[in-house]
Amino acid sequence: MSDDGAVVLGIETSCDDTAAAVVQGGTEVLSSVVSSQVDLHAMYGGVVPELAGRAHLELLTPVIAEALGRAGVVGRDLDAVAATIGPGLIGSLLVGVSEAKALALAWGLPFVGVNHLEGHLFAALLDHPSIEWPVVVLLVSGGHTLLVSMEGPGRYRLLGQTVDDAAGEAFDKVARFLGLGYPGGPAIERVAVAGDPAAFAFPRAKVGDGLDFSFSGLKTSVVRAVGRTPEASDQDVAASFQQAVVDVLVAKAARAAVSVGARGVCLAGGVAANGVLRRAVTEACTELGLPAYLPSLATCTDNAAMIAAAGWWQLEQVGPSPLDTGADPNLRLPLLA
Ligand code: KG4
Ligand code: ZN
Repeated sequence: MSDDGAVVLGIETSCDDTAAAVVQGGTEVLSSVVSSQVDLHAMYGGVVPELAGRAHLELLTPVIAEALGRAGVVGRDLDAVAATIGPGLIGSLLVGVSEAKALALAWGLPFVGVNHLEGHLFAALLDHPSIEWPVVVLLVSGGHTLLVSMEGPGRYRLLGQTVDDAAGEAFDKVARFLGLGYPGGPAIERVAVAGDPAAFAFPRAKVGDGLDFSFSGLKTSVVRAVGRTPEASDQDVAASFQQAVVDVLVAKAARAAVSVGARGVCLAGGVAANGVLRRAVTEACTELGLPAYLPSLATCTDNAAMIAAAGWWQLEQVGPSPLDTGADPNLRLPLLA
């Protein structure tokens, strides 16, 4: 193994993905294994917390073994074990946190408790290690929609957030309403390919014209439009809905970038896997003369490489976490004063 920085085992079990990864020096991914529980939850139309916790218990040990094996390392080659401590489902978080602490103790390594949202903010760094600060990060996942000015690792200012549903939640709810299945984001994107994004003029919520977002009115508009025009195709509804979400996200991200003098715009979170959003952000950045930092598709959705990356920075800057650090389902992103 080369001597290019600490080797961190990352563990992620905050929702319905059981993931482990080995990352060296914060950016070199030696392995990243994600075992999705999508099939387990699909028949219920969403994540069932009880089932998720039990599945993590079964899957985590083999997933870690596979991550270590693929990276060609054993416990004594590692420098730290990092795990997501929140936000997320408490039963799921506890599985990862307990296993990480047990391994850290057994191998005599430091334990690092990582904020899942901070993990998402680090995802773009895995593909673009030499980002110039500050960047505006649009973090859009199933549980969160945040516009953050990232001035460096650990230095975050909140510029805007959703006042109701998260962007991914809106995709999931509209997909469920249209009977397209779970998870909704990829299902909507697939169906929307054959639709007309201008077929329905769904609202672009302004929320006081600041940098906050609102998606619950959009969801209601979709339900009303389908009620009024039952003959409308799913393709047109999906494409028009997707365009409305993307328009608002990109307009506010671009405005945020200008307002803080950002040197680039990053996407993060599961919704960042959306091709229409990725193209729109790239175009907006080209107009602004700024780089768009898009994580690879696998690094957008939940994974442990981003947790190991954030854990590496945290270890360097703050040090290890105490072994009595608990899981916190409502953990917030730590912000600059
Ligand atoms: O970051 P993530 O994997 O988990 C959370 O921390 O929430 O995000 C999952 C969310 C789901 O709401 C899913 O529907 C959405 O990301 N998503 C997408 C796409 N792929 C996943 N939304 C839109 N387009 C996609 N291609
Ligand atoms: Zn996530």
